[in-house]
Amino acid sequence: MAQELPPSVLRALLVEDRDDDAVLLVRLLQREGYAVQWGRVDSAQGLEAALVEGVWDVVLCDFRMPGFDAHQALGIVRARDPDLPFIVVSGTVGEEIAVDMMRAGANDYVMKDNLTRLPAAVARELREAEDRRARRFAEAQLRRLSQAVEQGPAIVVVTNAQGRVEYVNRRFVELTGFTPEEVVGTSAHLLAEPPDPQARAELEQALGSGRWWRGEALVRRKDGSRFWAVFTVSAVRDPRGNVVHYVVVAEDVTPLKEAEQRERELRHRLERQVERLQALRAIDVAITSSLDLQLTLNVLLDQVTTQLRVDAASILLREPGTYTLRPAAVRNLKTVGQERVRLGEGAAGEAAVRGDPVRVPDLAEAPGQRERWLAAEGFRAYCALPLVVKGEAVGLLEVLSRSELPEDPDWWGFLEAVAGQAAVAADNARLVEELRRANLNLQLAYDATLEGWSRALDLRDRETEGHTQRVADLTVRLARAMGVPESAIVHVRRGALLHDVGKLGIPDAILLKPGPLTEEEWDIMRRHPEYAYRWLSSIEFLRPALDIPYCHHERWDGKGYPRGLRGEEIPLAARIFAVVDVFDALTSDRPYRKAWSREEALRYIREQAGSQFDPRVVEVFLREVGEP
Ligand code: C2E
Ligand code: SIN
Ligand code: SIN
Ligand code: FE
Ligand code: FE
Repeated sequence: MAQELPPSVLRALLVEDRDDDAVLLVRLLQREGYAVQWGRVDSAQGLEAALVEGVWDVVLCDFRMPGFDAHQALGIVRARDPDLPFIVVSGTVGEEIAVDMMRAGANDYVMKDNLTRLPAAVARELREAEDRRARRFAEAQLRRLSQAVEQGPAIVVVTNAQGRVEYVNRRFVELTGFTPEEVVGTSAHLLAEPPDPQARAELEQALGSGRWWRGEALVRRKDGSRFWAVFTVSAVRDPRGNVVHYVVVAEDVTPLKEAEQRERELRHRLERQVERLQALRAIDVAITSSLDLQLTLNVLLDQVTTQLRVDAASILLREPGTYTLRPAAVRNLKTVGQERVRLGEGAAGEAAVRGDPVRVPDLAEAPGQRERWLAAEGFRAYCALPLVVKGEAVGLLEVLSRSELPEDPDWWGFLEAVAGQAAVAADNARLVEELRRANLNLQLAYDATLEGWSRALDLRDRETEGHTQRVADLTVRLARAMGVPESAIVHVRRGALLHDVGKLGIPDAILLKPGPLTEEEWDIMRRHPEYAYRWLSSIEFLRPALDIPYCHHERWDGKGYPRGLRGEEIPLAARIFAVVDVFDALTSDRPYRKAWSREEALRYIREQAGSQFDPRVVEVFLREVGEP
């Protein structure tokens, strides 16, 4: 059977001084079926070089050569490779010498007169060298393995088939504080277990059915504390399949868990910061809202006129708290486009009330005034689409054509989509406006702030210390005396404190001018009630206090400003305040004149009853403040 196998290659190194002897040995081996690759050396240097340069399966060494011998050769070979088969082949020598060579590490000794023994000796030595190498490799593996187990970063626990600990490695000792003596023999369950019953059941089941288990478990330390570890538990079986050990490999994942926790916290904080940023951004947008809305509406109208090829378009928005629609953006409409529209009036007003689109195929035949004006501007067909937000029309989108409007469903679809966008934009702007107001409310929701503000106003106006406080106190007193309800008193007081807040808009050169004002300067000075109205009306909680800042320069006879209201058109609080303010002004030094005496001022007030002032207020004033 051996001859059927392909010849095995034999790399033979011959240490031999005679070439024909070497050839003889090689022939012998070739006859046995070896494919011999061979080299011949006969000196120490030659042998060294051959060992370095080649790979050899066997060394066949002559006993004695000129200047070299088998002892020396063996020393050189063993220093390089303890397993390389070394067979001495020599003429007859004594048995002692042969034994001596074997002791020194030669593997066999073959006499030249009995060379037929050589092939068998070579074969045996090759096998044994192979075994020796395999054993050495296995030992090295085992050494590395036990080092890994003993010194590695993982916890290793070996139990017997009943789960009692037989071995723990160094890492286990380091991490738990138990010595091996303290834990060997105890049940592994006491040292570590998955806390969750389901995981425990899975572990039992996996091991029972011969699979391994991987999962997390809490490991107990000697001091009673615990830590998380990731476990792999597997069974070691004997050849018959019976479990003889369980091997537990575990890794401390506490640092990992802590890192995860930190990461979660960090992400959470980041998310909160992003939310806050977004809120800030929303407020930011709020402050520029009117601009944005205008921009959005203009963009929308550009889209409508170019994409839909209509000749004119407009967007009207509902004015808060009124029943009118105000033009917010207009394309190609002349005067009609600038007009407000009342709800319910004409096609536009009807669309806004009904919340459904209204179409007018021929404006010339429509009954409404506005429709006739539009027809006069040369338009023929008209459509109004309500801008509906939460079921309520907040405005209108109008499109106009000098010819007919198309019937194409895509065209109408786009128009409706644009109306939807306009509604969203208008709604956003409204929300944003509310937000802005809420913000201002927050900033100003303290009367203390108002008092401080009014003191600052006094300072700017070069009024005497406490002028505004005095005026406010007296106004409240008179208001109560005239039956103003207590719930309104707080607004009267706030209004009085802020009555001249509009003067913040008046330049020093006019406000502090030492002489009379020119006509142009008066124009500016008379704006201060309007300024007050503009600034305060956006602040929700000051709106009820607006009467005094807005109307304190109106006159009973209608010759006052800013609106020329007369008589009881002027809010009562403002009528009361006007008397108090003029009295206080006259009796104080002003940049433009010295203070009047109290008597002169009272006389003036009495004189002005029925012209500048409400006579009933003057009456109560004189009763409360001075002689009747
Ligand atoms: P103010 O000084 O607080 O005066 C409030 C109101 O008191 C005045 O409203 C006016 O009705 C009355 N008043 C004050 N001084 C006199 C006065 O000498 N004679 C009479 N008959 N009434 C007086 P008015 O007139 O609408 O003025 C509003 C504000 O315009 C004044 O507030 C003051 O800041 C400014 N102003 C009025 N006149 C002059 C002026 O001649 N020169 C300068 N620099 N400012 C003036
Ligand atoms: C075992 O029961 O064999 C080990 C269990 C564990 O360490 O989690
Ligand atoms: C915090 O944790 O509250 C500070 C970071 C943040 O603004 O969310
Ligand atoms: Fe004033
Ligand atoms: Fe004043």
